[in-house]
Amino acid sequence: MSKLSILFLLVLSFSSVLSELCNPQDKQALLQIKKDLGNPTTLSSWLLTTDCCNRTWLGVSCDTDTQTYRVNDLDLSDLNLPKPYSIPPSIANLPYLNFLSISRTPTLIGQIPSAIAKLTQLRYLYITHTNVSGPIPDLLSQIKTLVTLDFSYNTLSGKLPASLSSLPNLVGITFDGNQISGAIPDSYGSFSKLFTSMTISRNRLTGKIPATFANLNLAFVDLSRNMLEGDASVLFGTEKNTQKILLAKNMLAFDLGKVGLSKNLNGLDLRNNRIYGTLPQGLTALKFLHSFNVSFNDLCGEIPQGGNMQRFDVSSYANNKCLCGSPLPPCT
Ligand SMILES: *[C@@H]1O[C@H](CO)[C@@H](O)[C@H](O)[C@H]1NC(C)=O
Ligand SMILES: *[C@@H]1O[C@H](CO)[C@@H](O)[C@H](O)[C@H]1NC(C)=O
Ligand SMILES: *[C@@H]1O[C@H](CO)[C@@H](O)[C@H](O)[C@H]1NC(C)=O
Repeated sequence: MSKLSILFLLVLSFSSVLSELCNPQDKQALLQIKKDLGNPTTLSSWLLTTDCCNRTWLGVSCDTDTQTYRVNDLDLSDLNLPKPYSIPPSIANLPYLNFLSISRTPTLIGQIPSAIAKLTQLRYLYITHTNVSGPIPDLLSQIKTLVTLDFSYNTLSGKLPASLSSLPNLVGITFDGNQISGAIPDSYGSFSKLFTSMTISRNRLTGKIPATFANLNLAFVDLSRNMLEGDASVLFGTEKNTQKILLAKNMLAFDLGKVGLSKNLNGLDLRNNRIYGTLPQGLTALKFLHSFNVSFNDLCGEIPQGGNMQRFDVSSYANNKCLCGSPLPPCT
């Protein structure tokens, strides 16, 4: 090779390094994550020799808006790891992460690393459909930027961290399909005004729904399939904007006849509890109600006639103490 062509090659490789948008520290952190996950073939596009910001790295995006080109978005799904690995603490070395999703990887085990609290710009954290276990870390309450937390369908256990309610920007939590136990903390009644969505179904929650929930204005609440008992009337109220209340398969016992109904209610699933009293007459005024099931409770009296109430079939009302009237047999 001539001296000239060597020089030409040098200039070429130098300019390609210069034109690389990927921050060197971010690239190093990503390559460490890849290594800590056993270099899975699903991450074979993560290469030392290519630019992590040019959209060829699977699941990696850089901040093009501010032109800092720091890695702000990491989506690790269907990783297909050769053997079980834990979530690499090296993830904490991506300080500009805004969005982190780790999903559909059953070979991912171990606990949520506490190093995650170093991600002080994180807004969306999703860890779903993995075998990640242990508690939801209390340290998450240090990440003040968090907007949504989704930890659905893992093997998480322990109690709900009480401190999450101090997160000023939190809009929703989705923790369904884990083994979370104990009572819902009283502090969960003091989430910020932005907080509108709570899903903790399919867990092992016990005790009562805190009375402090009277302060919440949830658009969506799903506490189905737990072992909750006592009163749930705090979730209801004419002044709330509630759209869905899903409480199926618990041991809740309260007088349904006394609850106030949000006019926006479109789904009410109270099946398989110990709820008593009558069905509130106000149900007939709910224009958007399209999903309704109060079967397997201790309700009594005539089913309110009108509105959407007779559109629901017998199975929505069956197996109560003494409900009667259409679509059930007439009251005697
Ligand atoms: C991204 O980097 C690779 C490897 O350096 C290169 O082949 C490709 O052309 C680049 N793509 C863009 C859109 O710059
Ligand atoms: C992870 O969970 C699945 C069920 O989602 C289970 O079948 C599998 O054996 C678990 N894998 C490991 C490595 O623990
Ligand atoms: C209502 O719940 C019962 C009990 O789980 C179920 O068998 C029935 O199919 C449900 N009906 C509707 C319409 O969802």
